[in-house]
Amino acid sequence: MVRQDTVSSLLSAAFVLVLLLSMSTIAIARNEATQLDRDFFNHHNRHFSYRDPSETIPSRQRTEAAIEADNFFWFAFNNGRYDLIDQVLNALVGAYLIDPEDPLTAGHIGSTHLWRLSEQSRLDDIPPTITDSVIIARKYLRRSVDLFPNAIFLGQLGGLTILEGQTDFNDARTKDGFKVLTQSILDWPEFNLLTPGFLFSRIFPPGNQIYKQSLEMQWQNYELCVGEKINRDDPDFTPFLTRETLEGRKRVCWNSDKAPHNLEGFFMNMGDMLVKAGDWNTAQKIYANARVIPGYSTWKYRSELEERIINAPLNVSRFNAAPDGSTGAYKPVLSAESYSCAVCHQK
Ligand code: HEC
Repeated sequence: MVRQDTVSSLLSAAFVLVLLLSMSTIAIARNEATQLDRDFFNHHNRHFSYRDPSETIPSRQRTEAAIEADNFFWFAFNNGRYDLIDQVLNALVGAYLIDPEDPLTAGHIGSTHLWRLSEQSRLDDIPPTITDSVIIARKYLRRSVDLFPNAIFLGQLGGLTILEGQTDFNDARTKDGFKVLTQSILDWPEFNLLTPGFLFSRIFPPGNQIYKQSLEMQWQNYELCVGEKINRDDPDFTPFLTRETLEGRKRVCWNSDKAPHNLEGFFMNMGDMLVKAGDWNTAQKIYANARVIPGYSTWKYRSELEERIINAPLNVSRFNAAPDGSTGAYKPVLSAESYSCAVCHQK
């Protein structure tokens, strides 16, 4: 368990900041983030001048090995080929050894370890040493964001640092993780307002303050993406479908080649958080938003979502039960599922 007293004040601070940001303009948000960047990343490296952390990592001269490993990573990831993870890592680390200054190679090594951790329930036997992936991921994600400050990798780094702090009962490390996670939200709220909820939905009971704040961030994410306040009694996404964009910071609000079912996954995660909090009625409406997304009919996890709509009242106790079943039937929330990454990333 995360030491709640230590971390709740930190997340509160993050939450207040995010609230302020969402009420002000993105231009102001950029200035804040830039200022904080100076405090956190006063390492301006020799390859890149300051860049927007929502920018795609620049196409510097990449080695052939890096390009090949990248293609292999996306092939495995977009096809849900968890069984290929060892081979993907061999390709990526091989490329890293040839060019250790490629931020994308380093970032993808970290992400692949995160994928291994996150979908570990696919394995028949989960070895205790899978925990080592936390440390390895952290090393490479840190390396990546030091080379180029990308907010997606920074958010992953923050989450994993919190996990490591928990594993070791190391409050200082947990605190450090919260700082990094907060920074990633400031850097790119359209993307990282999701991240705390994704991480904490399976860690905390819904009465916990951090859980509540993370759920509120899902509403903020929704509102920031569509650019207006949502009627929370009728959160229908249909009117916003025409606002789709494939460019700029808001591109991550929509489906893309890299995350072909991002929106469906977003609404499944948010619905699960609402159900776990007991609000299955609103959850059913949030889940139903996935049905209006173009591409829903080809989504591999459609039946999981339909089942969640039907079973929403039942799942309140299941999502809150102990994973060992000692307190009644258990069902994992999305982020603890065997398809926690594939839900958005699988074709
Ligand atoms: C709610 C949907 C969602 C979930 C769940 C999700 N992602 Fe993503 N992910 C995205 C979106 C959106 C992007 C941005 C895609 C883009 O830039 O077009 C992204 C980008 C990425 C990238 C791309 C970095 C690059 O090269 O540009 C990686 C790697 C990644 N995610 C890994 C993961 C892993 C590992 C998990 C599971 C722990 C995961 N994602 C879970 C939506 C999701």
